[in-house]
Amino acid sequence: MGRLETKLLVLLVLLIAVPISVAFMRSQTLFDRSLAVGLNPGVTEALDDAVEVFGAYVRSEKARQEALARGIAEGRPLADRAAAGPDAVRDLLRGHARAPRVQRIALVGGPGVADVTVESPTFGDPARWRVRTLELPLTGVPGYAALRYTFGLEAAFLDRFEAMEAEVIAPRAALETYREELAADFALRFLLPLFGAVLVAGIISVVVGRRITLRLKTLRHAMEQVAAGDLEVRVAPTGRDEVADLARGFNDMTRRLRESRTRIEHLTRVSAFQGIARRLAHEIKNPLTPILLAVQQIHRSYKGDDARYRRTLDSAHEIVVDEVATLERLVTNFSRFAKLPTAERVDEDLAAFARDIVAAHPEIEGLSAETPDRPAVAAVDKGLLRQALTNLVKNAGEALRDVERAPRVTLRVEPTADAVRLVVEDNGPGVPRDARERIFEPYVTGKDDGTGLGLAIVKKIVLDHDGSIAVTDSAHGGARFEIVLPRHVEGEPG
Ligand SMILES: Nc1ncnc2c1ncn2[C@@H]1O[C@H](COP(=O)(O)OP(=O)(O)OP(=O)(O)O)[C@@H](O)[C@H]1O
Ligand SMILES: [Mg+2]
Repeated sequence: MGRLETKLLVLLVLLIAVPISVAFMRSQTLFDRSLAVGLNPGVTEALDDAVEVFGAYVRSEKARQEALARGIAEGRPLADRAAAGPDAVRDLLRGHARAPRVQRIALVGGPGVADVTVESPTFGDPARWRVRTLELPLTGVPGYAALRYTFGLEAAFLDRFEAMEAEVIAPRAALETYREELAADFALRFLLPLFGAVLVAGIISVVVGRRITLRLKTLRHAMEQVAAGDLEVRVAPTGRDEVADLARGFNDMTRRLRESRTRIEHLTRVSAFQGIARRLAHEIKNPLTPILLAVQQIHRSYKGDDARYRRTLDSAHEIVVDEVATLERLVTNFSRFAKLPTAERVDEDLAAFARDIVAAHPEIEGLSAETPDRPAVAAVDKGLLRQALTNLVKNAGEALRDVERAPRVTLRVEPTADAVRLVVEDNGPGVPRDARERIFEPYVTGKDDGTGLGLAIVKKIVLDHDGSIAVTDSAHGGARFEIVLPRHVEGEPG
């Protein structure tokens, strides 16, 4: 794993783990504290006391009612009243029924005797009460078998107690039993998402980090290749982020380096050839005149009448004059190539310039200019550029020499945003793909009478103008030479 990936991983994990861990520890404390409050022995005792008190109350109330009932059942007055008849009994019971919580008191009659029942006038709504009935057998009460004593305990009070039992006391007891488990469960519920989040963060950081570092590694590898001298490397600028910008910048840089290397290589080669041409021109030029003079002298000075010798002399003289003329042309070409001046560039309208060049070469059949109506201005050395364009249209004319179809040579001027494109195209045989680099080299020619310097000169002039030149297929079916010249001189304000 790269350093960047590790950093990303650590950062993301920390970002997630630290706040969650802090939150976990805080809530753990809070949880423990609330458990401690809930399961505090004081609270437990208080609750136990409450249960105790309640039970005692219920028990004592029941006992009190039972004692009251028993008092009635076993007391003398009841036996006396029973003997006096049912009205007397009712009278007595009515008195007892006034006691609080009593609903009804009844005497269950023995065989042949009707029950006597007295309702409490103060008992009220039975829904308020939980009603209990005591049935006490009677002995010594003539005619009656049992006392049925019905009383109530406050329903609201009992309900509250039962609710307390169900909602507080029972869960509390359960809580007590599961206290440990609860704490573990709480921790688990917190830690599981924490680990999940850390894991997800880890995976994300590794994936994201790897994507970035892989692309950076590719870039670094490409840079090493460039450092080792390979300018052909390119990196695919995937995505739309800064790394992709970097890749695009890198490709742009290698393209510029390639261009400038090609330029320097060509200019170096051309300059070496210029040196050779200068020396050759010098060495050849000097003996040419004496050779010609000597031959002319021999030719003129023979006064004899040997016809065969005369013919030999004539033909030798003709050959020498012809070859010397060729050599002189070669020497002129060589010296012109050797003495190419440096470009002095000024703004010119290349549209008018191209029309002038076409007009100056009526001998080239089918030559025409295609220029825009508005001026196409670029900073050029007119003399040098004329030489370059003349070489191109001449080559086109020469390429069309042995062609059957009607010759067509077009010199086109196309202004673009920051450059002017000059195109020379013809409908000749074209330049084979594998020769397209080579023909710009000095002394590369496909013609018997060519020196192979024309295109080398064109390329040098174009490079001296910070431009570029390439040959492709023409729409006319022949060769298409395209020169691109920047509108402004590099380094000067546009
Ligand atoms: N328009 C063209 N169509 C086809 N081939 C071409 C064209 N222009 C140039 N060439 C080829 O490129 C070669 C090199 O051209 P270049 O102008 O450098 O030299 P040259 O014309 O042979 O000789 P020089 O120009 O010195 O008289 C030519 O010999 C020819 O084979
Ligand atoms: Mg030529």
